[in-house]
Amino acid sequence: MLPAVPKPLVHMLAQRYIAGPTLADACREVKTANAQGKLATIDVLGEEITRDDEARAIAGAYRDVFQTIDREALDSNVSVKLTALGLKLDYDLCRENLESVLREAAGRNNFVRIDMEDSSTTDDTLRLYRELRESGYENLGIVLQAYLRRTLDDIRSLADLRPSVRLCKGIYVEPPELAYQGYEEVRGGFLRGLEELLDVGCYVAIATHDEWLVSEGRRIVARRGLGREEYEFQMLLGVAEPLGNRLVREGHRLRIYVPFGEHWYGYSLRRLQENPRIAGYIAADTFGRLVPRRNGSI
Ligand code: FDA
Repeated sequence: MLPAVPKPLVHMLAQRYIAGPTLADACREVKTANAQGKLATIDVLGEEITRDDEARAIAGAYRDVFQTIDREALDSNVSVKLTALGLKLDYDLCRENLESVLREAAGRNNFVRIDMEDSSTTDDTLRLYRELRESGYENLGIVLQAYLRRTLDDIRSLADLRPSVRLCKGIYVEPPELAYQGYEEVRGGFLRGLEELLDVGCYVAIATHDEWLVSEGRRIVARRGLGREEYEFQMLLGVAEPLGNRLVREGHRLRIYVPFGEHWYGYSLRRLQENPRIAGYIAADTFGRLVPRRNGSI
């Protein structure tokens, strides 16, 4: 139903998930997270771009983000979506844009993580990741999705690079040939992926708000005797804050994903789709309460 919901309403409902339209908004959220003992990763929203100059502008926006991180002494790295840097327009343009962001990050001793998008981008994303690591960029991480049937194979084929990997369930709608569909199957894929990543010596960011997976993650890192610096948990801005606060109190590292920018629509739809209460929000009677009524309409 969500795509049928008017854009202004999507915007209103999704506000908790997005810092705001500007870098100053992201900066404010990161400062709040840092003050609570949390790290951050900043995402410039931009996946709906359709032109080369827009992709270059997103790369420029990331370079500004790094300047701001240093100037404001923020404890944050960045996350990028390759489609926002032009992957669907031209692979080489995307590579050029990503390299410009990576150079800025490297010069500032910071780090870039490539988000993983839908399965039409997986091969190119992993290819670009390998190319850039092999050409010497150490400050680059990747995301793998537990719902994809290929993920264990991907872990094994990336193992020689010892990648820094964010492991998440995966959010895009994928067919059963490519992705597990059942809730428990995806959880199973997540745990197998986590064990395999740790077996091959990767730094893993355990990205989930699923309380059961969080406790399994805690148990696995404890069983392996991993120190605080050897893994982290990650959560999205505006989701499961009490669970995140508990992790921080227990002494785990937690990084909050902070998106900002004008291209908020696609990201917002995905977050609303995952919110267990959203069906209620968009039910007809709630609509009536959320949308201001006009008085004296004809
Ligand atoms: P699940 O969806 O089962 O949620 C567990 C519980 O968390 C829910 O029952 C609910 O209580 C709460 N919750 C989750 N989402 C909520 C929401 N929007 N509003 C309110 N409550 C909510 N995916 C991808 O394909 N590529 C990527 O690069 C990334 N990157 C990424 C970074 C980070 C830091 C995180 C945390 C997640 C991602 N994801 C992602 C998204 C991920 O694949 C997944 O869709 C979401 O994290 C939701 O899955 P959970 O593991 O939280 O479980």
